Amino acid sequence: MIKVAPSILSADFACLAQEAKRMELSGADWLHIDVMDGCFVPNITMGPLVVEALSGRVDLFLDVHLMIEHPEKFLRAFSQAGAQLLTVHAEACNHLHRVVQMIKKNGCKAGVALNPATPLDCLEYILTDLDLVLIMSVNPGFAGQDFIPGVVRKISALAEERRRRNLFFEIQVDGGINEDTAALAVGAGADILVAGSALFNATKPQKVIKAFKMLPKKQRNV
Ligand code: DX5
Ligand code: ZN
Repeated sequence: MIKVAPSILSADFACLAQEAKRMELSGADWLHIDVMDGCFVPNITMGPLVVEALSGRVDLFLDVHLMIEHPEKFLRAFSQAGAQLLTVHAEACNHLHRVVQMIKKNGCKAGVALNPATPLDCLEYILTDLDLVLIMSVNPGFAGQDFIPGVVRKISALAEERRRRNLFFEIQVDGGINEDTAALAVGAGADILVAGSALFNATKPQKVIKAFKMLPKKQRNV
């Protein structure tokens, strides 16, 4: 079944724990925490202290999306704060292989994110080491942007590569996900949907989460 990861970037920051709990009670699987440094992306959000504050307040897998330069400097801090998956951007790492190994040494699952214009090729020699590939369907930095349709082809190509090489990483899609675009992403091979505004602005987020989860998942190995 499709997993749903609400992005707390669209939550009311004055009451983050209650907002996260609201998503848990609405049927979310993961909590997606968007970390921005004002350098890699033109916005600043939160750091390990916020992850630590949320950890223990919700029964959700903590998925931390690092939109920061030099992520290797902060892996230990996020892991100690309770992060369970750390996703770094390929564009932000000079030594991606080393960073991925460092994430695992810190006891977290390892993900790599690609901006919309970044081709899949840069992952060719590291796919076997990854637990997750995050395909950005907006340019990172802000919630509430429109889904970029051109990434659907990238999701399909990644799913095909996974099938061809019999690999087991999960495919996550992030940015502009709503009920229409979710169907496109899942139809192309997404396993995990990140959604900010579509969930936090919904009057009944449980309905939206349920609709996402009901989307028929593409079969992996046929
Ligand atoms: C964008 C973030 C996304 C964003 C998603 O930089 O990585 O997680 O919060 O928000 P929506 O679903 O509103 O595009
Ligand atoms: Zn994100």
